[in-house]
Amino acid sequence: MKSIRQIGKVSTCLFFVLSMAIYNFQTGTAWSNGVSYTNDIQPLFTTNGAWFNYGGLASLACGACHAWDGVDEEEGCNPACYHLMNLTTHAGMLAGADVDPNTGCGIPILGQSACGNTDYDWDESVLRQRLRNNRMPPGWPFTIDESNRNGPDLYFDRDPVPDGYTAMRIPGKFKILLNDATQELAYADEAGGARGNAVGLIGAWVEGTDAGLHERSVVPYGGVSDVRWRDVKPFFTQPNTWYNGSLACTYCHYCTEEPPCYHAMDLSSPAGLRGGADEGSEPILGESFVGFTDFDWDNSGLRKRLRNNRMPPESPFVLDESNRNGPTIVDTLHPGGISAVDLIGEWVGAGAPNN
Ligand code: HEC
Ligand code: HEC
Repeated sequence: MKSIRQIGKVSTCLFFVLSMAIYNFQTGTAWSNGVSYTNDIQPLFTTNGAWFNYGGLASLACGACHAWDGVDEEEGCNPACYHLMNLTTHAGMLAGADVDPNTGCGIPILGQSACGNTDYDWDESVLRQRLRNNRMPPGWPFTIDESNRNGPDLYFDRDPVPDGYTAMRIPGKFKILLNDATQELAYADEAGGARGNAVGLIGAWVEGTDAGLHERSVVPYGGVSDVRWRDVKPFFTQPNTWYNGSLACTYCHYCTEEPPCYHAMDLSSPAGLRGGADEGSEPILGESFVGFTDFDWDNSGLRKRLRNNRMPPESPFVLDESNRNGPTIVDTLHPGGISAVDLIGEWVGAGAPNN
């Protein structure tokens, strides 16, 4: 079921529509070209509550965390400059993320092949992915210091347990730790002496063999020379392996038909992982097509899903995917309503004009 939501209160919305109508009258161009950056797009990045206002706290404006001034370092920059990115201005949107202050260019977020190019591609863009894709497994706590992005720290089975932690034994050669004080798993080597982390382990296993992934594939990781599927498997099939309370991936992704399995994806075996998502149309290990073995962990859908928080943070996860495209916006151009993600797509598709 799709819900109709608008930015702000009805009165604000009426004023919004009215002011756009006047704008059109005065310039005669903004509306005839379609979506206007200033009136339609920019507010989605600068308004609190624009993306959700239910299931907990209302969304913060993107600008609360991504309003880089183009000069300062990320550390201590105020207002916050996460990823040296400014989503509150047209120039900032085009410059992208992790911008080099010297060149003013960063990683494109609108799907351009390089910063400065105009071959925008909304469907493949980082921005669209960040607005739509929930971090997996659902419910990940968002930590602004990014400490939990690579998943829990790994220790060898026989490593001593540091003070203040309890070992969580899982099948295979590794164990993870629970921080007694926070009741959360140990991340980013907080307890010292970690051998690696869960994302690193899966990556090593995915990329570590030329022959493709099999039950019997053997790869080195974290000082262990013979990591096998059975050491990797618990991170797909066991609860509580990503954060305290996480569901097993295989709770939702255990077969290649949807329903019952979300994205027709089977994460319970190497064959399932090689089979990808959406009935084999979507590789998840970074390979060029399902069936190929040119695995590319850094660019894989699986790694992104394990690491990347959906933006804005704390987006409520709904299983039926109804909130993935953001709120529905009703305006004079779209009297029947359009999702925020599609609206931005229209603007990007028109060449991301500064209108
Ligand atoms: C509370 C602070 C906060 C808010 C609000 C926020 N972000 Fe983020 N954003 C972050 C952090 C921290 C990261 C990096 C860690 C991560 O991926 O979870 C990030 C990462 C990103 C990235 C990835 C950049 C890259 O280098 O690939 C994009 C794109 C992004 N945010 C877009 C948005 C958008 C769009 C909004 C608003 C709809 C938004 N963010 C709101 C904190 C925030
Ligand atoms: C409660 C059910 C649930 C659990 C548990 C779950 N997922 Fe998902 N997953 C979904 C849903 C629903 C989607 C699609 C909607 C979305 O992106 O938020 C999805 C999408 C994905 C996708 C994108 C597939 C594509 O089309 O490219 C990947 C990859 C994924 N999940 C991996 C995982 C991994 C890895 C885990 C465990 C660490 C996991 N999921 C746990 C429900 C779940």
